[in-house]
Amino acid sequence: MSSQLLKGKKGIISGALNNMSIAWKVAERAAEEGAQIVLTNAPIAMRMGEINGLAEKINAPIFAADATNEADLENLFDKSMEHFGGKVDFVLHSIGMSPNVRKGRHYTDLNYEWYKQSLDVSAMSLHKMLATAYKKDAISDWGSVVALSYIAAQRTFPDYSDMADAKALLESIARSFGYHYGAAKKVRINTISQSPTVTTAGSGVKGFDGFISFAEEMSPLGNADALACADYCISLFSDLTRYVTMQNLFHDGGFSSTGVTPPVIERFTK
Ligand SMILES: NC(=O)c1ccc[n+]([C@@H]2O[C@H](COP(=O)([O-])OP(=O)(O)OC[C@H]3O[C@@H](n4cnc5c(N)ncnc54)[C@H](O)[C@@H]3O)[C@@H](O)[C@H]2O)c1
Repeated sequence: MSSQLLKGKKGIISGALNNMSIAWKVAERAAEEGAQIVLTNAPIAMRMGEINGLAEKINAPIFAADATNEADLENLFDKSMEHFGGKVDFVLHSIGMSPNVRKGRHYTDLNYEWYKQSLDVSAMSLHKMLATAYKKDAISDWGSVVALSYIAAQRTFPDYSDMADAKALLESIARSFGYHYGAAKKVRINTISQSPTVTTAGSGVKGFDGFISFAEEMSPLGNADALACADYCISLFSDLTRYVTMQNLFHDGGFSSTGVTPPVIERFTK
């Protein structure tokens, strides 16, 4: 289903690791909607090679960048503008990683070097991307930046550990930078708070399967999948949402507004 909502637009999409990645679906949908795309991921992720298949499919170059490395990000925006012959209209930040979660370190006993990495990779990287683009004036007026978040920024989900802190920082950066970039260049910046979704990053969280089922039963519409998330991203990259900025937007089938549901109550009824 294509309405050519992004016809003529040019965008950078980070975070497509494999065909389960949310970013992968966003890249496919954006291309379907008429956008030209540049793909990027960390050099280590490129070695896995799956991204090449996506690049071929949507005819997009890949410029590797570790999103914590400012020189890499400068190179990414320079190469992208060179490739497009001008500025970028939209950017997807779809990057998250916590060594503490990966290595099963409990929140009450975090390794602080890893904690710094979690915050740097999963949140500060958004600031670095935005600051790089801002200094280079690389995003068109009325351009749109979307980063992916999770409701653990607002409520405690114990096994999400330090990623919850990273998401809170990510959402705050979207608001703070959203003000400055909006005032200077009309660039809008939002986060989408997505349902739990089966992907490589998602599956790293302890008890993820049970958690997905719980969220499904706690959401009147059920969990939003990666493709639905991609559709929402497309709407935010399009000109139909030009005055939406500095928001954290829940894309979760109603989970965030639901107190309890009959299927969940039933489990506790003797
Ligand atoms: N899967 C879920 O349940 C869920 C829910 C809400 C939000 N999110 C968020 O969605 C985003 C995408 O995750 P996903 O679920 O598609 O998983 P994913 O594992 O497919 O994507 C995470 C990406 O981050 C990239 N990355 C890690 N370190 C990087 C670095 N230093 N520089 C550049 N890229 C780096 C990885 O290579 C990978 O492509 C993340 O921000 C995640 O927190 C996921």
